[in-house]
Amino acid sequence: MTRILLIGYMGAGKTTLGRALAKEIGVEFIDLDQYIEQRYRKSIADIFAEKGEEGFRLIEQRMLHEVCEFENVVISTGGGTPCFFDNIEYMNRQGTTVFLDVPLERLFIRLSIARSKRPLIKDKSDEELRTFIKENLDKRLPHYTKATHTFVADKLEDRTQIASSVEKFIKEIMQTR
Ligand code: S3P
Repeated sequence: MTRILLIGYMGAGKTTLGRALAKEIGVEFIDLDQYIEQRYRKSIADIFAEKGEEGFRLIEQRMLHEVCEFENVVISTGGGTPCFFDNIEYMNRQGTTVFLDVPLERLFIRLSIARSKRPLIKDKSDEELRTFIKENLDKRLPHYTKATHTFVADKLEDRTQIASSVEKFIKEIMQTR
């Protein structure tokens, strides 16, 4: 049974790599944020606006427990998922956890063009965004590094890079499990 859980900061490529990996190995792909949006019929931004971050984290944990029962899946989680409650310990029990490690500058480049749907960063200027990523990442790293595997995901910028990252992921993670 395959259950791979991708964790890492916003912009680390969890969805991009996860979708391509699932396709390549022939299993279903689940993106936790999209799953939450479908189950609640609401965008993540609206859930944050209505229930605050605390309310969102409770929903996120509940939905994580649902998707972690599914078999033969690649699951991409939200950037904050492993950093609240006992989520990372729970994920480690449920499947193969992989931290997608990406240098700060690459995260900044990716997020500066993709901040509008992300409530935690949508109103930040470039300078504020850079500082926020650095400080927030420092706080989150102790959680991320509890994953059983780490994969450097700095090359996901086009189709060719995604395909070779998937190949590398399979060699480094899947064949050594
Ligand atoms: C969050 C990351 C988002 C989403 C929510 C909160 C975070 O997911 O879950 O906006 O706390 O880092 P992505 O990592 O897919 O952007």
